[in-house]
Amino acid sequence: MSKILVIPGDGIGTEVTEVTLSVLKSVGEKNQIEFTLERALLGGCSIDAHGVPVTEETMEKAKQSDAVLLGAVGGPRWEDIEHHLKPERGLLELRKQLDAFANLRPAVVYPALADASTLKREVVEGVDIMVVRELTGGIYFGHPRGKEQTNGGEARAFNTLVYSTSEIERVAKMAFEIARKRRNKVTSIDKSNVLESMVLWRDTVTELHDRHFSDVTLEHLYVDNAAMQLIRRPADFDVMLAGNMFGDIISDEAAQLTGSLGMLPSASVGNEGAIYEPVHGSAPDIAGQGIANPIASILSMAMMLRYSFDMDGAATQVEEAVRKVLDNGYRTSDIYEEGRTKVGTEEMGSLILGEL
Ligand code: IPM
Ligand code: MN
Repeated sequence: MSKILVIPGDGIGTEVTEVTLSVLKSVGEKNQIEFTLERALLGGCSIDAHGVPVTEETMEKAKQSDAVLLGAVGGPRWEDIEHHLKPERGLLELRKQLDAFANLRPAVVYPALADASTLKREVVEGVDIMVVRELTGGIYFGHPRGKEQTNGGEARAFNTLVYSTSEIERVAKMAFEIARKRRNKVTSIDKSNVLESMVLWRDTVTELHDRHFSDVTLEHLYVDNAAMQLIRRPADFDVMLAGNMFGDIISDEAAQLTGSLGMLPSASVGNEGAIYEPVHGSAPDIAGQGIANPIASILSMAMMLRYSFDMDGAATQVEEAVRKVLDNGYRTSDIYEEGRTKVGTEEMGSLILGEL
């Protein structure tokens, strides 16, 4: 039996997750697989119910599941809360405790949506990038961190960007292995012209490449240059490998190439399980209106089928269904253009179900 922990979270997270579950149900029936679903709170809703962004109970349930399907967390209601109790801390804690060290974020430009991008069609056509972001280390988790008063009475705050060889190696290995199944190229992103931790990053990636992956083309880019090249020649990239913070930034940029953050799924995989979630956040500005794009969540579920349950065929069916609905001209408001048919969250889900 395949055990999934469903964490809808906050804002549009709850809306898109419900739609995704109806698609998942149909996939299960078609493939005669029984998914056991459990639900848990995380983020703002957990703060409201229990006073903390994640409880021990949620964490236990997550560890006992084969996969976690997550919506989104956070919102303005919880913005003024003390730092260590913010909704986002719940998500970071979940990633850390599941040791989900590699975050895979594919950014694919669908031909039907190439005009929805803010870049010219000829620049984004054919873009098919996989961002592999280190997720449980780097400046997000490094110590020392904190805030203090100096003797002069001024505030001082600090974080630490730290990586060890093994942390870099395991995520780089994942990037090379993924590249072998794609177009065989890895672009590693760092800031080794300034930061010691990033010199180690570059040296470790190079060494691993030369020892075990010399068949894969490896290029290195400084993060500032990578940000520029990504909007200049996005179709040249295959796998982009980066640390936690640079990967966070680059993956939002890659997402925008595709026209909307509402299209992008992600998988966070590691040793103790895996988390599947849309790259977009809880979008409080449109929450509760039934207009959010459920495609990122549905495609995250497809990644779950592929990576956690070895159901490559079923995953492809879901992806194809999404493609067909887009080809037929249906759009949620985030990707809407004149002449297309505007639909809401649930209707988009039903259309995709229909194609399945
Ligand atoms: C993401 C988000 C998170 C991150 C936040 C919500 C903590 O931006 O998944 O990219 O920075 O990792
Ligand atoms: Mn982000």
